[in-house]
Amino acid sequence: MGKVFLIASGKGGTGKTMFAANFGATLAKRGNSVVILDLDLGLRNLDLYFGLENNVVYDVYDVLTGVCRIKQALIKDKRFEELYVMAASPSRDDGTLTPLHMQVLCEKLKNTYDYVIIDAPSGIDDGLVLSAAGTDEAIIVTMPEYSALRDADTLDRELLKLGIKNRYVVLNKVIAEMMSSGFAPRLREITTIMRPPLAGVIQFDENIQISTNLGVPIVLKDGTYIQENFDKITDRILNA
Ligand SMILES: Nc1ncnc2c1ncn2[C@@H]1O[C@H](COP(=O)(O)OP(=O)(O)OP(=O)(O)O)[C@@H](O)[C@H]1O
Ligand SMILES: [Mg+2]
Repeated sequence: MGKVFLIASGKGGTGKTMFAANFGATLAKRGNSVVILDLDLGLRNLDLYFGLENNVVYDVYDVLTGVCRIKQALIKDKRFEELYVMAASPSRDDGTLTPLHMQVLCEKLKNTYDYVIIDAPSGIDDGLVLSAAGTDEAIIVTMPEYSALRDADTLDRELLKLGIKNRYVVLNKVIAEMMSSGFAPRLREITTIMRPPLAGVIQFDENIQISTNLGVPIVLKDGTYIQENFDKITDRILNA
């Protein structure tokens, strides 16, 4: 039986899609079968992060509304045998989709695949409730900015209300000098604001932005500090 991870944030642009792509690629590198679902309906991004934008035929909306079968909407990555992406629909949900639809989809995927990763929309509205419906554990991606941290804490409370007990925080876009000079909240303050355990810290690095533009998850290149960092974060989450 597989496990479903929700990747969420309160504020937009914190790095959810970047994290979902690289966490998924790290799990696939270890020989796991992985499906990453883009639930940011109306703002499809995930396919681009894998360079799979020309392979999208059916999307998650088609699956949830029964237009196609699950397998028809799974786009196989070019580099891994068992890494699949399901694209978000180009239009937003008009209220047709219910959390029950999503729960059923997650149950079915868990029967076949080792890990299901859900790239959620930012915020705490209906899109989050839909994305979270079949989730086992949540990873909150935030940044060292007070607004992002407050939104992450608000999101964390919502996730708890939705019954997700196992939650982790990943702090992304960290610039160490800004923290040490007092221009950004320090790690100790951040861990006081956020209740779930910190699974890892990812530095701000323009190579991450370049890799997302190239459609190649950065962890594919072995031996970089970013790839090693993702390995550690993945270990912490899996072994928690
Ligand atoms: N650690 C990092 N260093 C540098 N750039 C980063 C880092 N993480 C993410 N980015 C860049 O920040 C931008 C936003 O990242 P991403 O799309 O993953 O955020 P998101 O949380 O999914 O956004 P949205 O809320 O719009 O879905 C992208 O241009 C990405 O390349
Ligand atoms: Mg995104």
